[in-house]
Amino acid sequence: MPRIYWYQNRFLAENEVRISPEDRGYYFGDGVYEVFRVYGGRLFEAEAHLARLRRSADGIRLPLSHADGDWLPKLNELIRLNDLREGTLYLQITRGSAPRNHLFPSSAEPVVMAYCTEVSRPLAAMEAGYAAITLPDTRWLHCDFKTLNLLANVLAKQAAADRGAADAILHRDGTVTESSASNVMIVRQGRLLTHPANQLILHGVTRAVVLRLAVQAGIPAEERPFTLEELFTADEVLLTGTTIEIMPVISVDGQRIGSGAPGPVTRRLQREFERLIG
Ligand code: PDD
Repeated sequence: MPRIYWYQNRFLAENEVRISPEDRGYYFGDGVYEVFRVYGGRLFEAEAHLARLRRSADGIRLPLSHADGDWLPKLNELIRLNDLREGTLYLQITRGSAPRNHLFPSSAEPVVMAYCTEVSRPLAAMEAGYAAITLPDTRWLHCDFKTLNLLANVLAKQAAADRGAADAILHRDGTVTESSASNVMIVRQGRLLTHPANQLILHGVTRAVVLRLAVQAGIPAEERPFTLEELFTADEVLLTGTTIEIMPVISVDGQRIGSGAPGPVTRRLQREFERLIG
């Protein structure tokens, strides 16, 4: 079935979507986006994603075309039109199309585009775990805004693949922030640790869900910065994200983490997550 897009408030076939070469997303990465998970034909944690979208847009002074409550009917209609059961929904808003000039255009309208993709859950990887590498976090100081400026993330992810790893865990002067496309958690002596939700990381929707599940499961969880040293000597390392859910990391820079297999806290959280989406 050909994919149907939501573009400028209309549902269109791909060949009817016309992106201008002067779109500021294309020139400057001047826009924001969200990736939602769809389970059983329904958006997962939709309100949390929409609240973050609003925060990101406010953060870059981008006016949104829809009030918070008005996005959902459109996104649900997009899922219905594409007959999507299991996958992701990508929503992007740029500052519009105008002759190239760093200053905000005076008249351009934001350009809104969304589409769905059928994606299976990465069950085999979640069972086996990832190999990761570490890299310096070279991004700007507003990683809490989910903007289209992802070049540093793209380079980090590619560097990981070039070294035979699945992802890159980033650090600023030895303090672990997050990975190229997910949040990072470690387990030390039964405690779950993750970087505080400040301007240095994306405030992950899955991160928040996992912290909630930890509390419910009686797993002590703390939002505090941790070092590379603490990462390498952790009992468990896990990544959280919309598409990877709860992903164990079994080696970092070729060094085994814990026993070299996904640990019990990670497994427990995966089970709780499974129940939540089931
Ligand atoms: N990435 N950190 C970064 C840098 C991310 O890009 C993402 C998500 C996350 C996890 O956030 P969440 O749990 O809300 O998905 C953390 C999306 C999936 C992407 O860009 O494709």
